[in-house]
Amino acid sequence: MAHAGEDIDRVHSFPPCGQICNFSMHKRKEDPFLRKDFNCKDMFLRLKNPPGKVFKPPLKKPPPELLLDFTQNGSMNLSSMYFDGSRQGPKVTFTPKQIKTLLTNDKDKNIGSYGAESNGFKQVLYRYKDQLKEKTGIVIGSQSPWLEVMLLNLGVKHVTTVDYNAVFFDHPQLSFELMSDLADKITKNQSLLMDFAASFSSLEHSGLGRYGDPINPHGDLEAAAQIWCMLKPGALFYLGIPVNFGTPVGSLVFNAHRIYGEARIEQITANYEILERKPVGMHGVLVLKKTL
Ligand SMILES: C[S@@+](CC[C@H](N)C(=O)[O-])C[C@H]1O[C@@H](n2cnc3c(N)ncnc32)[C@H](O)[C@@H]1O
Repeated sequence: MAHAGEDIDRVHSFPPCGQICNFSMHKRKEDPFLRKDFNCKDMFLRLKNPPGKVFKPPLKKPPPELLLDFTQNGSMNLSSMYFDGSRQGPKVTFTPKQIKTLLTNDKDKNIGSYGAESNGFKQVLYRYKDQLKEKTGIVIGSQSPWLEVMLLNLGVKHVTTVDYNAVFFDHPQLSFELMSDLADKITKNQSLLMDFAASFSSLEHSGLGRYGDPINPHGDLEAAAQIWCMLKPGALFYLGIPVNFGTPVGSLVFNAHRIYGEARIEQITANYEILERKPVGMHGVLVLKKTL
């Protein structure tokens, strides 16, 4: 069992996170978005060998040594709400019959797990359907394939789902990879870069340990950078996260989630052009473009 105090050295260990984890960097006036130097090779290596430890059961409080990193130098409000989502049971499986039912229901019902918010996300995706048609992409974070099914109904060719915990969606156009394996394949040219990425209510959890993931105060910023590294130039990333649009301050509700104020939105969207920001409830949808 790891001791929380050991983590500070590991989080800052080799390979370095570099500018991705440096939140003292800000958008320059002349730039449309915050530009950072992303070292994709280091990012993929950090995915393979995460610097932070996995705590089972998940930690109830952020390690004190990492508190400033976790709260973006104290600029995020800190509160508590605790969950243990580190799955130990059998793999989540959706049968061909269940997926077929979802595909049918999606045509005239809301199949999402987030009520009106899932529908809001679907409406955004719908507006980009011409860009999704026949494309191959990734969904980050999934326990039920509602988003994957919406994408298939919009004409997407193939979706690879990535999660910390394996899922099995039994459909010829759906597959699963651990993020680290996908990164490995891309590094070895065994997988092509993606045409798009989509994620709803997932990145705000990255690095908090709730889902059995390694503790990492910058886990969400690293995840957004990993996705950037996996996308083709010009590709879009449809990102749904809890937001406080228009307010600089966000919150860290440990170990449940983060709520994004403008200060952290600036960081999580580094190197992406923001095409759209749409509130859909507690979550907001950001349509991001990988612009070099
Ligand atoms: C709240 S659940 C919701 C997922 C999805 N929206 C759904 O309804 O099925 C969040 C999921 O995101 C996954 N997750 C969060 N950050 C991730 C990351 N950086 N890479 C892979 N999986 C991630 C967690 O393991 C968890 O299964």
